[in-house]
Amino acid sequence: MGTQYVLCPHNCFRVEDMFNIIVKMDANQKAFLVKVRAAMQGYFGPDQKRIDHALQVSLYAEELLAYVDADPVITLAAAYLHDIGIPEAERKHGSSSGKWQEIEGPPIASEILADLDAEEAFTEQVVAIVASHHTRNGVDSPEFRVIWDADALVNFAEVLPSKSEAQIEMLLQQHMVTEPGFRIARRIFIKDTESHRRCLKGQRPAILP
Ligand SMILES: [Fe+2]
Repeated sequence: MGTQYVLCPHNCFRVEDMFNIIVKMDANQKAFLVKVRAAMQGYFGPDQKRIDHALQVSLYAEELLAYVDADPVITLAAAYLHDIGIPEAERKHGSSSGKWQEIEGPPIASEILADLDAEEAFTEQVVAIVASHHTRNGVDSPEFRVIWDADALVNFAEVLPSKSEAQIEMLLQQHMVTEPGFRIARRIFIKDTESHRRCLKGQRPAILP
């Protein structure tokens, strides 16, 4: 704990603490999530791009948790681990496609959570999200929907700025599965200034001392 992240100089995503005041969790839950985050960072090792992506998704997930009634511990653990299958997908199949991620991620996520003494029922729910996070409506749960939209909010920053406003509107209508996710996406990709779009494009968390 104690590390601060600022994703946007316009202060849109300023998070004073990784687990801010909006999402209520007890000390044990926060401590557990810090361990999951550390395990994810350890697993990705020098692959800072993957780590940054997981952290960005977790920050959006946290924002969405203020509006969606989902379990914050399941949701944030899944945010950290959702892409954990990428290294194995690339190593075994030469591809990081969603299909291979969904196959290779679950055993690694299970192992990480088992090492952290997570309960079986909890692990099952996190792993189910990892196993279907590229499949629309892969799991019928609010935790899945938060991860789906949080992942989209990060990934769209790379593809949407080159599209017209009408195309963006249509894509967001089709893709987003929570109302706050849709609203945040519109705020970022349609209503905001060009400088804000530049800031979101290729962003990396600036880690403050
Ligand atoms: Fe992702």
